Amino acid sequence: MKDPAALRQIHEHRFGVTPEIFVAPGRVNLIGEHTDYAEGFVMPVAIDFATLAAISPRNDGKIVIYAENFHQERSFPANPLPTKASGHWSDYPLGVMAILAGEGYTIPPLSLSLWGDVPLGSGLSSSAAVEVATATAVTSLIGAAIPGPKLARLCQRAENEFVGANCGIMDQFISVNGAADNALLLDCRDLSYRLAPIPANMALVIANTMVKHSVAGDGYTTRRAEVEEACRILATHRPEIKFLRDATVADLEAWGHEIPPNALKRARHVITENQRTLEAADALLRHDLPALGKLMHEAHVSYSKDFEGSCVEADTMVDLAQDLPGLIGARLTGGGFGGCTVNVVEIDEATAFAAALKERYRQTTGIDPEIHICHASAGAHRVA
Ligand code: GLA
Repeated sequence: MKDPAALRQIHEHRFGVTPEIFVAPGRVNLIGEHTDYAEGFVMPVAIDFATLAAISPRNDGKIVIYAENFHQERSFPANPLPTKASGHWSDYPLGVMAILAGEGYTIPPLSLSLWGDVPLGSGLSSSAAVEVATATAVTSLIGAAIPGPKLARLCQRAENEFVGANCGIMDQFISVNGAADNALLLDCRDLSYRLAPIPANMALVIANTMVKHSVAGDGYTTRRAEVEEACRILATHRPEIKFLRDATVADLEAWGHEIPPNALKRARHVITENQRTLEAADALLRHDLPALGKLMHEAHVSYSKDFEGSCVEADTMVDLAQDLPGLIGARLTGGGFGGCTVNVVEIDEATAFAAALKERYRQTTGIDPEIHICHASAGAHRVA
């Protein structure tokens, strides 16, 4: 990751003040895809790709946001803050401030510099990392102590209500609450969670198909609508089904004939994925990596066939990993239709695995993929 001291210097040079520095990670999801907005279970890991935020107060009534990645600066009045998105990267940090302001926090004039190395549009939650880095920096500047789960919810609202992307809670939650060397099993209904230590012999290899993914895109939105449609139909029979979290495979057997075919398949993915995610957390907790790998494989098949959330390149990346030495489990991670696969690999084989997968994918698709061996990292915090 880029040196926080470098961002401090950039900020000092631009704004003439020494800032405080904060960091918020991206994430990879081990299992539990498109279950968060159905109030189900997810098991993400915070990774060592992150956004850094440098912040300092100003006295000219302005909010000035600088993105080192784009070499661009944007300036807004602090009071009142804009209430509408403009389709620009600044919507993410600004949205967080607008939501905080809406909650009654006074956002003072400030300078914010951002720099990140979470690959954009690759399903590793670059947006959540920007939101959470901003929220952590701004709440520290104003001395607001907001509990982690609530801060994650405010960042999700920034994306839902300000940016206009209909994401669930997973990405913001893990970016705030991740723990080094651990995966996190989250119950998206009440936001309770437990940590599952990553065993010492397990490596996380993230393979980028280089096909861009977007939560604001059509695929994510239509899938979510289909999931909600299936839920509404089941609820006409069992009103206690508020979200697919409350439904079972038996419900689908009883009333599936009333659900349009695509919505039925999406629902089957979500319902079975919740079960797999709970089983995967148990497997990880007892260090049963073969069981975890098998569940990840089933999850990928379900994501690809029932949810139809994969793409040719991601299916290829998963297939090409299957007989490589050291593989424990591989699947497409994140919102779908592109992005990255996550490969759980025996640690001694990880380097050779990454090199072989890169070469195979390049030969098969003609695309040169980025492959990273990642480490489970801490959630957002101030950098000393
Ligand atoms: C994106 C969203 C999350 C979640 C995943 C799919 O990452 O931001 O809320 O829905 O897709 O599991």
